[in-house]
Amino acid sequence: MALQFRDHKILQTQAKVDLFTIVFSASEGAAEGELIGQLVADMLQQTAAKDLSGFVAVEGDVLAGGVLFSRFKLPVNKTAFILSPMAIATDQQGKGLGQALINHGLVALKAQGVEVLLTYGDPNYYQKVGFEVISQDFIEAPQPLSYPDGWLAQSLTDQPLLPMPGKTRCVDALNRPEFW
Ligand SMILES: CC(C)(COP(=O)(O)OP(=O)(O)OC[C@H]1O[C@@H](n2cnc3c(N)ncnc32)[C@H](O)[C@@H]1OP(=O)(O)O)[C@@H](O)C(=O)NCCC(=O)NCCS
Repeated sequence: MALQFRDHKILQTQAKVDLFTIVFSASEGAAEGELIGQLVADMLQQTAAKDLSGFVAVEGDVLAGGVLFSRFKLPVNKTAFILSPMAIATDQQGKGLGQALINHGLVALKAQGVEVLLTYGDPNYYQKVGFEVISQDFIEAPQPLSYPDGWLAQSLTDQPLLPMPGKTRCVDALNRPEFW
C-alpha cells in the first residue's frame, strides 16, 4: 500500500490525538506526550475551520504522521499561519517523511493564499524545509520564548520577509506559556 498525504479531516480527532501522544511520549516522556496530545485535541476542537489546516500521512489504515497549521495574526495585513505541532510515527522517523509532509503542506498553504509561515522548533530541522531563524524584533512571538533560537519563519510568496514589528497572536489552543 502506498503512502499518501491527505487532509487531516479524513481522520477522527482521537486518531490524531493518539498519534501525537504516543510519538511525543516516546521522544520527550509521558508528561510531554499528554501535553501535546491535549494541545492537538484543543486545536481540533476549539479552532475555527478557517483558522486551521493540517495534513496526515497514511498508508492504508495506518497513520504515519501528521502536521497542523493554524492562523497567526501579524501586525501587518498579511495572511500568516504557524506550523505546530507535527509528529512522525516513531518507526517511520528519519526516512524523509517529515520533510515531505511539510512540503506537501507548504504547497497547499500557498494555494490557499498564505503568505508567511512561522514555526518554533529545532532550526537544524526546519531549515531543511525553507525556514530561517528570525529575531523577535523581526516578528514578535505571542508569548515569551524559552528557546529564542527556535523562532523561525519563511515567505510563501516571491516577496522576501521584511521586519513586521508589533504584537502578534496565535490561536487560543496554542496561546499557553508552556508551549513557548
Ligand atoms: C522531528 C520529526 C517531525 C522529523 O520527522 P522525520 O520524518 O523523522 O525527519 P526527516 O526524515 O524528514 O528528516 C531527517 C533529517 O532531519 C534530522 N532530524 C530528524 N529529527 C530531528 C530533530 N528532532 N531535530 C533535528 N534534526 C532532526 C535528521 O538528522 C535528518 O537529517 P539528514 O537528512 O541530514 O540526515 C520526527 O522525528 C518526530 O516526530 N519527532 C518527535 C516529535 C517532534 O519532535 N516533533 C517536532 C516538534 S513539533
